[in-house]
Amino acid sequence: MNKMCLETGSLLEIRNLKVHFQSVDGIVRAVDEVSFSLRRGEKACLVGESGCGKTILALSLLRLLPPGAKLAGEVLFQGVDLLQIPEKEMRMVRRQGIGMIFEQPSAYLNPLFPVGWQVAEVVRLSRGCSRRDAKSRALRLLDLARIPEARKRYRQFPHQLSGGMRQRVMISMALAKDPALLVADEPTTALDPTVRRSILTLLRDCLDETGAALLCITHDWEAARRLCETAAVMYAGQILEVGPAGQVLDSPKHPYASALRRSMGGEKPEPIPGNPPALTDLPCGCRFQPRCNCSCAQCASVVPEFNGGVRCHNHQ
Ligand SMILES: Nc1ncnc2c1ncn2[C@@H]1O[C@H](COP(=O)(O)OP(=O)(O)O)[C@@H](O)[C@H]1O
Ligand SMILES: [Mg+2]
Repeated sequence: MNKMCLETGSLLEIRNLKVHFQSVDGIVRAVDEVSFSLRRGEKACLVGESGCGKTILALSLLRLLPPGAKLAGEVLFQGVDLLQIPEKEMRMVRRQGIGMIFEQPSAYLNPLFPVGWQVAEVVRLSRGCSRRDAKSRALRLLDLARIPEARKRYRQFPHQLSGGMRQRVMISMALAKDPALLVADEPTTALDPTVRRSILTLLRDCLDETGAALLCITHDWEAARRLCETAAVMYAGQILEVGPAGQVLDSPKHPYASALRRSMGGEKPEPIPGNPPALTDLPCGCRFQPRCNCSCAQCASVVPEFNGGVRCHNHQ
């Protein structure tokens, strides 16, 4: 057990995480010097524009990165650095410690097997129990995920289920591992707006029941505010603001976080002028400086440090 984690009570402690890719245009700094931590049972959301590195950050926790990715830093989960353990141990973490829910459940469900059976397989592999016990637990998990007529659904194939139902199956599958942490990458983006809310309510109820922590990537600020205690705003591979969700999402301090908030919702969404920088050609100082309307002289040349959860020279 890592001493620091024991002292701070963290479940997950990401320190100076970097994920880089080599490309024809140079090094793609998809995740750059990200530090972030989660306590047991804490629910956090990660927001940011497309392409800022959210999915890569999530995948790096499970070491499921595309080939060619170069990883550096530390990912301490329950005190163990996941970047240092052998692949065999990592498979155990994927099997038991961390559950994952993706945007497109159909991509992760096998079309050839009944969905209940697939949930039962996850139970069996993570607990090493008999098929019979695995089946009864799988049925309970389908119930937990509020899937009506769980016994009937157990035998159905993915194509027989709606998108919302498939996402419920994914949630029961992720919970089948009794994970201490659930990572959800845009779990409701592919769903109808009417189904979205019920899936998020379900997630919250399931987490309350199981005590698992959550790292949820989402574009839905309203949902993030209702689901999470903590929020982090990511831009061009870095976290620029982190803190209590109510504060970060309702009255963000970083100019990027406020611009993102204004672009997200309300009566009249205001797009953020300009475009994010290429991850192969990042500005020298603050990454948001070229688009920022309150930048000062040092913003263009000096990388701002974190101060009170905000990485901005104007917030020192
Ligand atoms: N295999 C890869 N090779 C090179 N660059 C990649 C690769 N995978 C992702 N990237 C780059 O990493 C950046 C972050 O991607 P991603 O994490 O998927 O963004 P987000 O989930 O925030 O939309 C993107 O700019 C993307 O182009
Ligand atoms: Mg993504």
